[in-house]
Amino acid sequence: MPSEMHDFIQQLPKAELHVHLEGTLEPEHIFSLAARNDIELEYKTPAEVVAAYDFHDLPSFLKIYYAAMDVLRTENDFYELALHYFRRAAAQNVVYVEPFFDPQAHTSRGVAFDTVINGIQRAQLEAAEKLGVQSNLIMCFLRDMSAESAAEHLAMAKPHLDKIIGVGLDSDEKDNPPAKFAAVFAEARQLGLKLTMHCDVNQKDILGHIRECLDLIEVDRIDHGVNALEDDALCTEIARRGLGLTVCPVSNRFVVQDLTSKEIRAMLDKGMKATINSDDPAYFRAYMNENLQALVDDADFTKEELKTLTRNAFEVSWASDEQKASFISRLDQVH
Ligand code: ADE
Ligand code: ZN
Repeated sequence: MPSEMHDFIQQLPKAELHVHLEGTLEPEHIFSLAARNDIELEYKTPAEVVAAYDFHDLPSFLKIYYAAMDVLRTENDFYELALHYFRRAAAQNVVYVEPFFDPQAHTSRGVAFDTVINGIQRAQLEAAEKLGVQSNLIMCFLRDMSAESAAEHLAMAKPHLDKIIGVGLDSDEKDNPPAKFAAVFAEARQLGLKLTMHCDVNQKDILGHIRECLDLIEVDRIDHGVNALEDDALCTEIARRGLGLTVCPVSNRFVVQDLTSKEIRAMLDKGMKATINSDDPAYFRAYMNENLQALVDDADFTKEELKTLTRNAFEVSWASDEQKASFISRLDQVH
């Protein structure tokens, strides 16, 4: 690995706009939480857990992801989960994060919504104060659950609106189009929340899903969205609106066996605001820096390209204008 590029990536102040907090649950942490909560695991060591990470598509990943989070039970568990992620972010000079969380994956196991959000918020405050990592939280709805359940969880979030900046849509995309959630996203918009949705790579009806995101939901951002490149009109519209696309190269390599380097470069060439993110870094074994380095190793991404991707992330983030200006001026000082 050429160490100059490695150093450059480390030095870049970075933003991460697509990371599922539950996807930052490291195998060692699964073990310590299981011990504390008196839960028996089917694996004997963290290495055995990693050996079972056999993902080849979205459903095979999600099955392991949802099973592991059963060890998260108390407010302190969620606090620790988020704080561990923020420590890793700080160590990689990630200065701003918009993390996702999946409340339905916890309430469906009997964990209260407040337990989850209060634990995460405590870690966010500590990360801002002690680690220099600012963050704004995004609440995701699970698209393979009903629209009614999504609406119930939006209602649960109402006393906590000061703790979330936006809503997203994740989980299994097959036959779960954006339109299914049009009403709940319209309500979230009315509440002043930003809107984003996963348009995962190579999913059934994906171009229709991206079109619904633009025309029906009127999203503020798209998560993944790589398949938009197959349709010139979609690309033109995404570029015209300045919509951010949160691409996750190493995640794509696991889920669709392709790092999507060519597509990321094509997005930049078309003036689309692509950004680089880790998605579920504990599972895909790659945080922000490893994702950027993968693009260098796979397709010789240049310093200028990495800087553009990083600047895009600050620009399309939902940080305040003041924060964005400060982050971007720090970025401009790195050469
Ligand atoms: N939940 C966590 N990671 C996800 C992904 N990559 N796609 C859809 N839902 C997810
Ligand atoms: Zn994701």
